[in-house]
Amino acid sequence: EFEKSLRPTRLSEYIGQERVTRNLAVFIRAARARREALDHVLLTGPPGLGKTTLSLIIANEMGAPVRSTSGPAIERPGDLAAILTNLQDGEILFIDEIHRLNPAIEEVLYPAMEDYQLDIVIGQGTAARTIKLDLPKFTLVGATTRAGLITAPLRGRFGIAFHLEFYNHDELELIVRRSAEILRVEIDREGAREIARRARGTPRIANRLLRRVRDYAEVEYDGRITGDVARDALNRMEVDTFGLDEMDRKLLLTIIEKFGGGPVGLGTLSASIHEEKDSIEEIIEPYLIQIGFLNRTPRGRMATPLAYKHFGIAPPQQRPSLF
Ligand code: ADE
Repeated sequence: EFEKSLRPTRLSEYIGQERVTRNLAVFIRAARARREALDHVLLTGPPGLGKTTLSLIIANEMGAPVRSTSGPAIERPGDLAAILTNLQDGEILFIDEIHRLNPAIEEVLYPAMEDYQLDIVIGQGTAARTIKLDLPKFTLVGATTRAGLITAPLRGRFGIAFHLEFYNHDELELIVRRSAEILRVEIDREGAREIARRARGTPRIANRLLRRVRDYAEVEYDGRITGDVARDALNRMEVDTFGLDEMDRKLLLTIIEKFGGGPVGLGTLSASIHEEKDSIEEIIEPYLIQIGFLNRTPRGRMATPLAYKHFGIAPPQQRPSLF
């Protein structure tokens, strides 16, 4: 049987991100009442926090179909033109990793977003002509983990923009309990709490850990997830009490042990732990910064005293102040 989807399909089922869901509910109600397409929505924030889920919820709540693609999948302006001309009125076009659209394709998007118009160039040189084609009144939902890489003209064309934040332990605990119910696995509060604590503030990770802990519970216990079962399973998967995994530990321990706690530049760090700069910046670091284990300074990355404490390593002596 196919893995059950744990994604909520309605705003009312969505846990956390309350600033986002409360405001979105108003904008959706208003657009529906006016029988208009919802204004274009930009969703930014770390991976796994619900950007794709929110795009599906928006479509559902608008009673509209959704077409999903991603920045890198749209290779030529013609690819985007084909997508746009095939949309229906009110349809949601979800473009993930929208910061990776190439500039020529972004140009096509501007008039499409602003005036629901497609400018097509036919012919070449002095014979070139543009014709304008009317597009259906669609809603673009753009998502990115890299808010800083969206160009100003693109950003300016979104009427609605939300930044998603990491979830707190209470929210993640509720998400784990909801997911456990869908998966029909028995879990107690302590079990849900343990998974929540180690999920790096991220529902996608909480749900993945829940599935894996369920495997341990079924194979090595009586199928119920208690605090003890969750702790045992998570320890054996080497997910530590802060949810740090092997890559997180490698990054922090490299800064601490090889570079005296930093500051160390991103390029140096990337070469040292054999990990792409982009995934260090987008996936590993945001959570380490959020929990106060890592600082980005103008001179590079630094491990904080809290990180030293977590690994049971004595922080270097503070250099005496000159003043
Ligand atoms: N599953 C994943 N993310 C969720 C969320 N924010 N609310 C409810 N269920 C979820």
